[in-house]
Amino acid sequence: MYATMIWSGNDLAILDQTLLPKQVKYLTCDNYHQVKDAIKTLQVRGAPAIGAAAAFAMVLGAKEISKKNDFINELKIIRDDLISARPTAVNLAWAAHKLYNIALCSDDVTVDIIIQRMEDAAIRIQTEDVKINKKMGEYGTEVVPQNAVVITHCNAGALATCGWGTALGVIRSAYAQKKIKMVYADETRPLLQGSRLTAYELHKDGIPVRVITDGMAAWTIKEQGINFAITGADRIALNGDSANKIGTYGLALICKAHNVPFYIAAPVSTFDFTAPSGKDIPVELRNQEEVLSFNGVKVAPEGVGAFNPAFDVTPAELISGIITEYGVLRPPYTQSIALLRKKVAETK
Ligand code: MRU
Repeated sequence: MYATMIWSGNDLAILDQTLLPKQVKYLTCDNYHQVKDAIKTLQVRGAPAIGAAAAFAMVLGAKEISKKNDFINELKIIRDDLISARPTAVNLAWAAHKLYNIALCSDDVTVDIIIQRMEDAAIRIQTEDVKINKKMGEYGTEVVPQNAVVITHCNAGALATCGWGTALGVIRSAYAQKKIKMVYADETRPLLQGSRLTAYELHKDGIPVRVITDGMAAWTIKEQGINFAITGADRIALNGDSANKIGTYGLALICKAHNVPFYIAAPVSTFDFTAPSGKDIPVELRNQEEVLSFNGVKVAPEGVGAFNPAFDVTPAELISGIITEYGVLRPPYTQSIALLRKKVAETK
């Protein structure tokens, strides 16, 4: 799969995902505003990928303000500006805070050294992400049944990360072990991440995939022997409530009704240890035109409005397990996530 982003040392080349699968084109960003715009417009999307892009944006921003007297304050403004680009995916805030804190804790060195440390950290976020995804793939394979007929929603693949993927990483690892018979990819209205990106990735890797519209999920589960569901996540609260692309909650309910196990795969950077439950997760509302139009062509009547939440929150009780790089978490999540948090603190 093509790299989601390539850091040159001076600029960040972002694979423009709004053009896929028709066109493979990189957008070169040499300032943080360009990266912020690319995040906002979904040219780069998927929680871990926007986290890494934000880390590189912080480096670009730091370079832009390196001569300013109030460097730290200016950097804080850049951090908060970046975080505002997409409010639900917590990886964005996680990476921006991480890079800012490096600067904050480096008051004994020159700005050039601070920027070098920030750049090293951004590169680490990018390279570590692939290792984390492979680890999730290993743990996740264990819960995938033999002859799995899988359903997934949105795109949680190599394109949504820095490589391999979270949910699609598990599918890739399970496919390598000959466990996957078929993957059904929800089209994922309104922006079609499922048909444009998930189907593209799986097809490119030779993994059998069929696209269905989101409204076909219940019937397909009933009729096509689907026995495993997996998605990624954008933010997971302390009780296990998990935000992901709009439509995930509905899919989880359908799975419950048909006794199909519903799993989430997400790295630790997607957990929000400050959010007690899903009620504390902000849900991004996007432009109504995304719903009122299809492929850039207006389909709804003039004068009609739309409701366009980009994400929904799946209640913890609908989730069979959460696959992380530390292993598979099981309910009750308040306990397993508290344990995960402890492990993370111990390995730091
Ligand atoms: O709006 P998007 O395309 O950024 O939404 C992405 C998702 O909801 C993904 O499923 C999620 O970020 C997990 S990505 C590994």
